Amino acid sequence: PGGPGAQPVPLAFTAIAPVATTVDDVTVPAGYGWDTIIRWGDPVLRGAPAFDAARQSPEAQAGQFGYNNDYLDIIETNRAGTKALLVCNHEYTNEGIMFPPGTDSETVVRTVWAAHGMSVVELERRRRGDTWRYVPGARLNRRITLDTPFVLDGPAAGSDLLKTVEDPTGTRVRGTMNNCSGGTTPWGTVLSGEENVNQYFRATGTDPREARYGLSPTQDARSWRAIDPRWDATTEGYRNEPNRFGWIVEVDPTDPRSTPVKHTAMGRFKHEGANVIVNADGHVVAYMGDDERFDYLYRFVSRDRLRGRSGSWRRHGSRSPLADGDLSVARFSGDGLEDGVSDGTGEWIPLTKDGRSMVPGFTLEEVLVFTRLAADAVMPTKMDRPEDVQPSLHNGKVYVACTNNTDRGKAGKEGPTEPNPRAANKDGHVVEISPTDGDHTSDTFTWDLFLICGDAASAGTYFGGWTGPVSPISCPDNVAFDSLGNLWISTDGQPSAIKLSDGLFKVPVEGPERGRVQQFLAVPSGAETCGPVVHDRDGSVFVAVQHPGEDGTWDAPQSRFPDFVPAGGTALPGRFAGPRPSVVQVTRR
Ligand code: FEO
Ligand code: CA
Ligand code: CA
Ligand code: CA
Repeated sequence: PGGPGAQPVPLAFTAIAPVATTVDDVTVPAGYGWDTIIRWGDPVLRGAPAFDAARQSPEAQAGQFGYNNDYLDIIETNRAGTKALLVCNHEYTNEGIMFPPGTDSETVVRTVWAAHGMSVVELERRRRGDTWRYVPGARLNRRITLDTPFVLDGPAAGSDLLKTVEDPTGTRVRGTMNNCSGGTTPWGTVLSGEENVNQYFRATGTDPREARYGLSPTQDARSWRAIDPRWDATTEGYRNEPNRFGWIVEVDPTDPRSTPVKHTAMGRFKHEGANVIVNADGHVVAYMGDDERFDYLYRFVSRDRLRGRSGSWRRHGSRSPLADGDLSVARFSGDGLEDGVSDGTGEWIPLTKDGRSMVPGFTLEEVLVFTRLAADAVMPTKMDRPEDVQPSLHNGKVYVACTNNTDRGKAGKEGPTEPNPRAANKDGHVVEISPTDGDHTSDTFTWDLFLICGDAASAGTYFGGWTGPVSPISCPDNVAFDSLGNLWISTDGQPSAIKLSDGLFKVPVEGPERGRVQQFLAVPSGAETCGPVVHDRDGSVFVAVQHPGEDGTWDAPQSRFPDFVPAGGTALPGRFAGPRPSVVQVTRR
């Protein structure tokens, strides 16, 4: 489409029809095909063995691609476009599918510690437009696991709240985990959100500062504490170990020897991820969601300004612009539904400013380590599970995926509000935020709901004003933009919400087709769609296929993606009959 002289749309496609949950395949539009780049267990580091599902070990897994890939970026590293770095998160593990029944429990626990974290993998191809392949054992390849040393930086580093018997300095943490989504910075590093970290600990749960984070005596089903006491926060020396997780992590993928950092200035909660934009005045602004029902949307504004070209800050650690700055939390006000749309004004309520706490009764360290409780005190808007939040470099607006909240309006819970307008919200919505005067450091904004998701049977759907046909869409989770500024949304939860496979959708945010949702792909049975990465000028789209066949078992797999090995195929090394979370590239054929 487009007027006279318009450039051809680089990634034109006809929307696929919605896909049934029984289809155990990646479904792509006519004229496109898909390939797997890398799968759980593929060797990453030099010397790592080939995947053998029947004989796994912590040592093997520490050199292999981890489980349940979530955040993904494909970062080109040369001008010719023939080299790139694949960076991705490994959010969590599914022991019942991963291991043969009867596997020794210590082997399982130590292996999944290595299956968590992140991977950096070099990619190559002969020329622009070809498909990528990964390079086993390449120089920059890296696995980050629960044993990788991290440093804490920012105002809470060294706080008594972060000290344990293993780390009396409160500045060094072993590992990262439950890394969900993330973002790539203009200075070349990757941010990653530590999300549902409570599930790995036993805690008393009697302290409100534990309970508000979901820590309790009963939720550590993996029993890691049987192997390492640090996962037992009821043990005196490890009381603060949970406080050392739940941060935004920054990794320099170009230096495998660099020490990754946890940024205390950005607050501690169930971080979905963080995406940054450089404001006109040089301040770096990060937007972040706390993915829990009735939790909040946050903003971080760096103290320092980025000087010169963004590339000049190609450093991490204590020199990161994310090490110091002001944290705030969003309050939305509706202007009433008489105008027929959910919209209104909003403000960023300060939690920290110029190195001081802005919350009465909380020290600066307490605001940063117990951010949820500090935010509770200033009455922000309770959102329907804010996941990925991304500023558009095209229109300067910010898009917030609120994935769902089936508890809204339940007895004893908050009911619908204009920014979260549906009771028992099973389908989710996307908030569009316009900073005042386009200034991302402004304390005020206007907002509207860009999408209120669902299918034809869902109540109250809205598609940015578009009234023509759309692909049904539910449970928006990760978002990305293409080179033209179109929003791409991946979903997590459609199988239960609207009885369809999860997928990836394109939707323009500007122009005559604003709000026209079109489905680009669907993922195999049981999977959620993560990433996504849209290189439309290059004719390719990448997704991380997370938790295929998640409700199956080793003996009764519910997906055989991506190898589609028939039952009984486990005898040969690498011939695993079950599903393997994988990164997939979709290209024009
Ligand atoms: Fe790990 Fe909020 O999804
Ligand atoms: Ca209104
Ligand atoms: Ca997510
Ligand atoms: Ca999700």
